[in-house]
Amino acid sequence: MRLSRYFLPVLKETPSEAQIVSHRYMLRAGMIKQNAAGIYSWLPLGFKVLRKLENIVHEEQMRAGHIPMLMPTLQSADLWKESGRYDAYGPEMLRIKDRQDRDMLYGPTNEEMITDIFRSHVGSYKDLPMTLYHIQWKFRDEMRPRFGVMRGREFFMKDGYNFDLTKEDALHAYNRHLVSYLRTYERMGLQAIPMRADSGPIGGDDTHEFLVLAETGESEVFYDSAVTDLRFGDREIDYDSHEECAGVMQEFTTKYARTDETHDEALFNEVPEERRRVARGIEVGQIFYFGTKYSEAMGATVQGPDGKVVPVHMGSHGIGVSRLLGAIIEASHDDKGIIWPEGVTPFHCGIVNLKQGDEEADAACEALYDSLTALGLDPLYDDRKERAGGKFATMDLIGLPWRITVGPRGLKNGVVELTSRRTGESEEMPPEQAIEKIAQIYKGLTVRGL
Ligand SMILES: Nc1ncnc2c1ncn2[C@@H]1O[C@H](COP(=O)(O)OP(=O)(O)OP(=O)(O)O)[C@@H](O)[C@H]1O
Ligand SMILES: [Mg+2]
Repeated sequence: MRLSRYFLPVLKETPSEAQIVSHRYMLRAGMIKQNAAGIYSWLPLGFKVLRKLENIVHEEQMRAGHIPMLMPTLQSADLWKESGRYDAYGPEMLRIKDRQDRDMLYGPTNEEMITDIFRSHVGSYKDLPMTLYHIQWKFRDEMRPRFGVMRGREFFMKDGYNFDLTKEDALHAYNRHLVSYLRTYERMGLQAIPMRADSGPIGGDDTHEFLVLAETGESEVFYDSAVTDLRFGDREIDYDSHEECAGVMQEFTTKYARTDETHDEALFNEVPEERRRVARGIEVGQIFYFGTKYSEAMGATVQGPDGKVVPVHMGSHGIGVSRLLGAIIEASHDDKGIIWPEGVTPFHCGIVNLKQGDEEADAACEALYDSLTALGLDPLYDDRKERAGGKFATMDLIGLPWRITVGPRGLKNGVVELTSRRTGESEEMPPEQAIEKIAQIYKGLTVRGL
């Protein structure tokens, strides 16, 4: 992409309505525009990152054996009346009437709809285990939408639902989700810590929330600092193996890590004092096992191997895809702007032409642009006739992790400059070497964007 042809409405002023850094930078970098409280348009740069996150979530869900599908945003109220949640959900549910005066709603989640799909088509244990998921817009009429996409009213969420014959199988599905979530967040350059949580209105026995530590987080968290040393890394895992998934679950959830809802002072005090931490966190995902709550209420049953008809064991598992943009920025920025982790950056690198119109500089930038593109990379070339300072400020604000700076002076010596956004360190090298380095950095990382 050439910046002269892109739509990147960068703001010079800091918008006064934004209270936290991620919201400020998303507005300033021209990523989102508010339409109504908690409802946003995703401008090109924001949309690009959103799609990347969505793609990572899809890849990791499918790797775990979960099946993608898509359910609508608008739902008939009938199923919710059947489960009893139409009345239970409260004012967060946006209720709508259609022209026939039928009760409709904008889905805040999809347990009822997926259970209905399941009961309509599945009747035998032979079709289990099964996990279906989708990534779709949700609406919750939050009392206090704030912090930009962090607490929106309309937000983008991955929600998955497992159907299993036994509790043991359903707990395996729970562990499998935990593993796939760990991988997902790490690919996004994030550390999200699974913490024992409270099940709230969805109801259920087992639940963990995934929290990204950040001062601006809305949840108070209590943990043993040793949990922050854990990494899933690039280990191979057999998602069908109950033992392997349970092993990871054990490893990541044995040390003390809880949200305020389940915090237990006495247990916490057993953690060595120097490792006790009280902090704040952003909830970026949650997994639930809730047994037969919905399957019993809605008659989602299968015939078991012994011929007996039994309700299936279920769980639901969510990732806050749009909230993740905010969480990543909260975790990775400086006073100049965003610093995207390589796994999610909207463009792989920026190319800054210090002297637009200079024949040699223009040609060198074009050549870099073509080579990077030919390698399957996605550079953003700032080809505007602007001062160098302004170009650097824009690149820093939008947070591309790598920048190649091209100017007539360097070209006389056969070099361009490669700069890391994270460290600010620059290195001069021939253009071919810069291309090679960028290609190396993104090897195995490139998630196709838009
Ligand atoms: N209003 C919202 N705006 C953006 N993302 C949200 C919002 N509500 C929930 N999410 C995201 O969707 C994920 C799954 O939804 P879940 O039902 O667990 O939300 P929740 O526990 O009600 O969230 P919260 O406690 O933050 O209100 C959450 O972990 C969170 O990342
Ligand atoms: Mg939650």
